[in-house]
Amino acid sequence: MTKTTYNPGKGPDVPVGIAILGQGTVGREVLRILMANKDSLEHRVGGKLEVRGVAVGDLSKPRAGVDQSLLTDDAMELIHRDDVDIVVEVIGGIEYPREVVLAALRAGKSVVTANKALVAAHSAELAEAADAAGVDLYFEAAVAAAIPVVGPLRRSLAGDQVVSVAGIVNGTTNFILDAMETTGASYEDMVQQAIDLGYAEADPSADVDGHDAASKAAILASLAFHTRVTKDDVYCEGISKITSDDIQAAKAAGYTIKLLALCERFINPQGEEVISARVHPTLIPRDHPLASVNKSFNAIFVEAEAAGRLMFYGNGAGGAPTTSAVLGDLVGAARNKVHGGRAPGESTYANLPIADFGDVQTRYHVDMQVVDRLGVLAEVAALFSANDISLRTVRQEDKGETARLVVVTHAAREADLARTVEKLQELDAVKEVTSVIRLEGE
Ligand code: HSE
Repeated sequence: MTKTTYNPGKGPDVPVGIAILGQGTVGREVLRILMANKDSLEHRVGGKLEVRGVAVGDLSKPRAGVDQSLLTDDAMELIHRDDVDIVVEVIGGIEYPREVVLAALRAGKSVVTANKALVAAHSAELAEAADAAGVDLYFEAAVAAAIPVVGPLRRSLAGDQVVSVAGIVNGTTNFILDAMETTGASYEDMVQQAIDLGYAEADPSADVDGHDAASKAAILASLAFHTRVTKDDVYCEGISKITSDDIQAAKAAGYTIKLLALCERFINPQGEEVISARVHPTLIPRDHPLASVNKSFNAIFVEAEAAGRLMFYGNGAGGAPTTSAVLGDLVGAARNKVHGGRAPGESTYANLPIADFGDVQTRYHVDMQVVDRLGVLAEVAALFSANDISLRTVRQEDKGETARLVVVTHAAREADLARTVEKLQELDAVKEVTSVIRLEGE
């Protein structure tokens, strides 16, 4: 058990000093709403709040509506000021925020951050620094912005055993997949539309390659299973190979394709309790609660032993929704500064091993182009069976010389499926394995 420094609280008569680092979309909104709602927020805290400074990268840039006397380009000086108690980090990136957040925690300041990449990569040293100084590290906004899920996992479900978490935690990819399904448009066209609408960055790879979702999966798995999980522990596959043909085939078969972050606790073949976290395109039945999460919305579906199934839904990105979560954390951190005590910190006591990815089990939708001749189906089926994979459905469509063969498996190990696909590609009868998409939620 970690021994932490006790925070007795400074009482309601001394204002809580706040430093805001960053004035991008979120930073501007945090400052604006904080100033506009200061009175109510102070009532909720039970003490006064004062913004002591706002750190920016470029002081020469005009910043309408910001009290110029608060601006500084020296974040390190600002966080070390004696009258700063809480640092709000909304800069983005990893290395520089890591430096300033660690410095702030070590200097005894509580930190509120919206930075998923930072938390997913460096949770251990951040948590250690917060514990050693007896301060808070809050990051509700790091997973799905406005949707309260970090707090529920940390507090409300602290008495339960979480079995699995399945989330649509990236709005850009959900927008792209949903738009491909509803309009029949291509992946490339919908990525461009996501860029034009401001959902995706000009370089959309953090979203479409799954990295943003993988950081969030690492945070969710850590909280759910009381085990430290970093982004490097997360298997990650993006949506760039999904074609409109895959989407229409899924639709015809009663499924929809979502980029899911999946975190699970299970027993591996050696009998050990292990956990896994993965991000990949996933077929889910159209009546699954996550199937109705459209456009750029996010949702997280949690299953716990006593609570059963819970779903958290809402805006997972954007200035105002992210600010809602940041200010919720700020009120919590400020309350603790005033009245004493700390928020629940990192809980990694369970320290469960990360599963070998080959042991993860799911079902698969395998789409192939095969030669249309006697015995091909038997040959393909025999190969699945020889690799310990049981088939659930098989569908064949005639395409002239060739046939489209779509196989849906029962639950099988990743390692067995990978070996089967490799061998399928070696068969003369198989022209191409067009797609392999995992299937969950039945
Ligand atoms: N780019 C993310 C999304 C939001 O599209 O959901 C920030 O994590």
